[in-house]
Amino acid sequence: MEAALYGPGGFYVRPGGPGPAGHFRTSVHASALYAAAVARLLRWVDAELGHPAELDLVDVGAGRGELLAGVLAALDLGTAARVRPYAVERAERPAGLDPRIRWVAAPPGGTTGLLLANEWLDNVPLEIAEDGHYVLVAPDGTESVGGPLDDADRTWLERWWPDGGRVEIGRARDEAWAAAAGTLERGLAVAVDYAHTRGARPPYGTLTGFRGGREVPPVPDGTCDVTAHVALDSCAGPGSVLLTQREALAALGVSGGRPPLALAGADPVAYVRALSAAGEAAELMDRAGLGAFGWLVQPVGIPAPAWPGAAAA
Ligand SMILES: C[S@@+](CC[C@H](N)C(=O)[O-])C[C@H]1O[C@@H](n2cnc3c(N)ncnc32)[C@H](O)[C@@H]1O
Repeated sequence: MEAALYGPGGFYVRPGGPGPAGHFRTSVHASALYAAAVARLLRWVDAELGHPAELDLVDVGAGRGELLAGVLAALDLGTAARVRPYAVERAERPAGLDPRIRWVAAPPGGTTGLLLANEWLDNVPLEIAEDGHYVLVAPDGTESVGGPLDDADRTWLERWWPDGGRVEIGRARDEAWAAAAGTLERGLAVAVDYAHTRGARPPYGTLTGFRGGREVPPVPDGTCDVTAHVALDSCAGPGSVLLTQREALAALGVSGGRPPLALAGADPVAYVRALSAAGEAAELMDRAGLGAFGWLVQPVGIPAPAWPGAAAA
């Protein structure tokens, strides 16, 4: 997975490729309403922090920087002037990106503000196991039985995925998240992803490939995305809460409600615009789609937001 996604010629780092948007649709690509909701969350964090002179916004696994550009566009000028936007990416900086966006290989240390990772952790390579042994995979996708699990992975499974069968060991994601969230000095760290929690782990695992908008076998040959859902509960640090994207976006003021029909007669253009926004909000909040994503919300030195549906992780 590491070589296929990030090695030479890897799926995410191949120069000149279309970027993630060319292969699948994340919330960021689905609608500008998503960036607007993140902008509202940033303003909430800003207020909790007492409106610091510099407000960091760190996007981990930033793709082509689309979310940062959208958040900057959604902010009022006064707040935007204080924001220091960082795109953390393994791919190269795309041409023509807003010059305010700093393109970095790792989250900068000692930040104050909001650190967000949208569909990053599902692309952090992980080990897969069956019956106490690692599953090995050749570049053509052929699987074979590997050696027995080491102690750290066995311990992780006993705590977080004791059901047996084919299991996806989330330890690498826990460590990646702890390292990223650990760079925040004060603020909120938020991971948004396909997620599952203990008691409802997928019995056969979730390893999947995506290419050109279609689901394909997860062959690690660099031609497709290779992804597995995230055990967000095991990633959670102290004080974290977990909720669904549907709940989080509702708390941030996104609504999939249709505009009143009376508006159609009074102001047809506004009606069509509101109807289209309602359709986009419905996609972001769809219980069978993006709305079922998990939001892991981890406060650092400020309280966690008290949103309906948020449960202690
Ligand atoms: C599924 S894409 C998500 C892109 C964007 N956040 C979105 O939601 O549209 C995952 C991105 O994470 C990046 N990535 C994976 N591991 C990374 C790491 N350790 N540091 C920085 N970026 C990473 C990949 O290169 C890829 O662009």
